Amino acid sequence: MKWVLAVLLLGICATTLAQDATARQPEPNTRVPQGVVRYAPSGFPDRIVASPAQDAATGFSVAWRTDARVSAPSLEIVVAGDSPDMGEPRSIKATSTPLKTENGEAHHHRADITGLQPDTLYAWRVQGDRTWSAWHHTRTAAVVTAPLTLLYFGDTQNKNVSLTTRVVREAMRAAPEARLALFAGDLVSGGDGEDDNEWGEWFEANEVLPTSLVVAPAPGNHEYFEEFEDTPQERRVLGAHWPVTFALPGNGVAQAKRTTYWFDYQDVRVVVIDGTSALDLGTAKAQAAWLDDVLAGNPHRWSIVLTHQPFFSPREGRDNVLLRQHLLPVIRKRKVDLVLQGHDHVYGRLKNEAPTPVFVVSVTGAKQYRLSDEARKTMRPVAEDTQLFQVLRFDGPRLRYEARTATGRLYDAFELVDSGTAGKHLVEHAEGRIEERTCRRAETLKGRADRCWE
Ligand SMILES: [Fe+2]
Repeated sequence: MKWVLAVLLLGICATTLAQDATARQPEPNTRVPQGVVRYAPSGFPDRIVASPAQDAATGFSVAWRTDARVSAPSLEIVVAGDSPDMGEPRSIKATSTPLKTENGEAHHHRADITGLQPDTLYAWRVQGDRTWSAWHHTRTAAVVTAPLTLLYFGDTQNKNVSLTTRVVREAMRAAPEARLALFAGDLVSGGDGEDDNEWGEWFEANEVLPTSLVVAPAPGNHEYFEEFEDTPQERRVLGAHWPVTFALPGNGVAQAKRTTYWFDYQDVRVVVIDGTSALDLGTAKAQAAWLDDVLAGNPHRWSIVLTHQPFFSPREGRDNVLLRQHLLPVIRKRKVDLVLQGHDHVYGRLKNEAPTPVFVVSVTGAKQYRLSDEARKTMRPVAEDTQLFQVLRFDGPRLRYEARTATGRLYDAFELVDSGTAGKHLVEHAEGRIEERTCRRAETLKGRADRCWE
């Protein structure tokens, strides 16, 4: 009997040891091991990203990076053709800005391309040190009545190569015709001494997206850092990467010039506001007045406000009162159709009495929080523990919105239909949606019970 017990005990010990050896460890924020240089700038152009001009039918801008040997390089552009000989390209000189990071000194370049023909496929490339990028293809926006598909991503923020990559790929598979990608802020986490690695990961995770579509990002709080942290002088300062990483239209409000902007893409006016600046830097009133002006002049059928911090927060313990006080009245008055948001690392669509504005919060990246009880009452559908992307298809008087999970399954769908003088109404599409998802984990691998995954 004794030896049977001994064998049993040994067996239990061996099993426990095996489980310990294979216990899952929290994943680091980037795939770059300490002391390894993965994203140093070189003479080869990288971090190439196109963004829309104020009028996306006639122009776009491109940002890219090289090492510090390259100053004022060129961008070449030509109408794309089937022959490898696409003719004599037009050459545009870039402006260059230095940036020192943990990966060495880089030069970030920006070229603005104007005077393009609408609905035209252009081939373009950017210059490095005695070398060039591939020829990339970007189509300018068409006439306002043409159909448009765009993608909307919530926070990507953490572990971008590891876990954002698959969502971006799934989104591009689901909507290969998409022309424009909106990112609702916190593209990276930052503030940890490896900001540049994180931006390197963001571009790696997005693969061909930033050179195939035009990218419009909103700044999140993680694009800022705290200066003089834990002192009376503590204040938010915009991170050095933001202004040089994207070539944005630069038509924002004076008080938040580098982080607010707007543009027209066919029949949609997109306005990007800066929630962090509104909440922490006292610009809510100024942004509201500017937003009112930009929306008052909108000749198009549709309008989107893209912003990071939600007007109605689905996460416990968060409430952005200043946004509702100053900016919400403008959004309601100007009948904005969609308010696309991030920040709370869950999914939630606010139940509205009126069909518009539709307020959505979504998340793309690995970090997952928990819903508040209030959100469970006031929003539908909601989700925890789910990576998502959204596809928006505009076609004349109809806008179809779909939220899909990281595996491409339908999570939320509705249509907004414009009946002209009768206004817009919302049609729910519940068919084909998967069941609502909730977090089934008691705590994260780091032992945090207030989060679902990190
Ligand atoms: Fe955030």
